[in-house]
This record gives sequence, structure tokens and C-alpha cells, in this order.
Amino acid sequence: MTSYFAIPILLFLFQNVSAQYSEAFSRNVIWPLAAGALRDDPQKCIESGTGDGKLRRKIELQCDILNETCSAYTAVSDSRMAIILSWRGSVGAYEIEMEALDILFGQQLTFPGGAKVADFFYNAFLKLWNAGIKDDFFTLQQKYPDYEIWVTGHSLGGAMAGLCAGYLKQMGFADPSKIRLITYGEPRTGDAQYSTLLNSLPYSYRVVHDNDWIPHVPFKNENYLHHGIEIYYPNNMTLGLPYTICVGNEDKSCSSGAPLFRLNFRDHTLYFGIELDNYLSRECKY
Ligand SMILES: *[C@@H]1O[C@H](CO)[C@@H](O)[C@H](O)[C@H]1NC(C)=O
Ligand SMILES: *[C@@H]1O[C@H](CO)[C@@H](O)[C@H](O)[C@H]1NC(C)=O
Repeated sequence: MTSYFAIPILLFLFQNVSAQYSEAFSRNVIWPLAAGALRDDPQKCIESGTGDGKLRRKIELQCDILNETCSAYTAVSDSRMAIILSWRGSVGAYEIEMEALDILFGQQLTFPGGAKVADFFYNAFLKLWNAGIKDDFFTLQQKYPDYEIWVTGHSLGGAMAGLCAGYLKQMGFADPSKIRLITYGEPRTGDAQYSTLLNSLPYSYRVVHDNDWIPHVPFKNENYLHHGIEIYYPNNMTLGLPYTICVGNEDKSCSSGAPLFRLNFRDHTLYFGIELDNYLSRECKY
């Protein structure tokens, strides 16, 4: 375990900055894009994160198991040279009952390449992908071949974002060096082979706020393993507080080591020091 403060000066001097987790990029650019998937119209959040970004399309449809909708949107930012794919797992994902969560993880499907992943998330991902995210992605990629591909999501949407990034690599749809994946409060989504796949991406981060309980599910984690690189904030995530760049898939000095009695719902919706609902009503501005 190594702790860095918000402005990692040494990293800046000695390492390839583009491949490193950047607190400012995550807080100010990607988090608004992830949160935006929870709004009926993500456009203001896209602007908050990128300045000039434009929503291309938002798709919302019934997820298979939950009686709620899942959603994803595509967007593009010329100033950032980025194609954006942002995922939302379900409307009230953070209010889901424990019993429903068990259903989400009960069965696994085979991912391209052989990894096993939770069927609920994979089916929801494929449904949205085939309903138009795929078409948008290929159109944008053809139009902007040099752009990076930013993939993100919060909560169950984080699981779908991870699947999207893994899918793009595994299907050969994108140059892995162009993919930037950051998820927030993501549950475990697949098996050890799936972790290996996501860990093979040059830019793959899984942000966890302190005692957020969702990264601990499924609790009975047979055949589920987190992926790296976890970025753990053992505090309220207000600007300037330190975070940990964790080691391995389930670093015990990070989220995996948080005692069960401390886990709570509140930390799941309190990212970067502001309640998600509040942040959304402020159009993704701090
Ligand atoms: C969804 O709705 C059906 C029918 O109303 C119900 O039987 C089922 O338990 C619900 N599923 C969840 C996960 O709430
Ligand atoms: C967040 O934590 C810091 C450091 O412990 C504390 O000074 C600050 O008051 C906290 N802010 C909120 C909103 O809880």
C-alpha cells in the first residue's frame, strides 16, 4: 500500500503521467460523466466534465431481472479528443434490497475469451450495446480514430462500464491503449479471469469511497474477484484529502479490509464530498 496526496508531484516527475490515476481528471472530468448517466438529460453533466462535449444518444430500456430500467449514453468531446460511453445500472441502484442483489450475482455467463461474469450485468450491457451503443461507438470511432475512449459508470453502472471496456478489448473493437476506464462504487462483476482481462488494460481504475458497501457485494463471493487498480479514499473525499493506490485485486489495506460493521449505504452515494442527488440537481457542479 502506498499513499499519495492529491497532487502527486513525484509521480509527475518520474512516471508516465498519462497512464496514472489523476485525482483532478477523475473528480472533475470523469465523475460528472458517470453521474450524468443518472440524469434524464446528461448534457449539462457532459459539459461540466468536458466543456464542449455533446450528447449523441441516450438509451434506456428494461433490465432483465430488476423491474427497473438500465441506461447508457454516448457522447463526444473534441477539445478532450474523447469518445464517451457512460453506463447506468438501474434507477435506484443504491437503494436495492439485499435479496435483489443476490439475484444479480446468482448466475454467471461466459464472456468472450472464457471469463465468467454476472449474467445480469452482461445481459444488460449487451442489450444496451445492441440497442445502439454499438452503432454509435463504431460511427464515432470511424469519424474520430485518434480519440480516446472513456468508459465509466457508478454502482451497477460501474460493473457495466467494466464489461464494456473488457468487451472492446476482447472483441478487438478498440486499441486497448486508447481505452480509459474509471468506475465508482463498482460491485464484483466476474471471476479471476475477468480480473486478469481488466487488469491487462493500460488504464483501468476502480474508485471506492471509504465504507461504500456495494464493492463488497456479492458477499458470498465464490467465483467473484475484483479487478485493479483500486483507488481507495479512506475519508470523505473532499478536495485535497489523500487516497491510496491499492495493490492487487483485493488489497486488504483498501476497501476489502474495511470491517463489515462499518459498511453503509451513505458512502455509496457520497462521492467527492457531495451527495449524488445534490450533485445531480446542481447539474454535476461541485
Ligand atoms: C419484479 O416484478 C415481479 C412482478 O411484479 C415480481 O414478482 C418480482 O419479484 C420483481 N422483481 C424484483 C427484483 O423486484
Ligand atoms: C471531511 O473530512 C475532513 C478531514 O477529516 C474534515 O475536516 C471535513 O470537515 C469533512 N467534511 C465533511 C463535509 O464532512
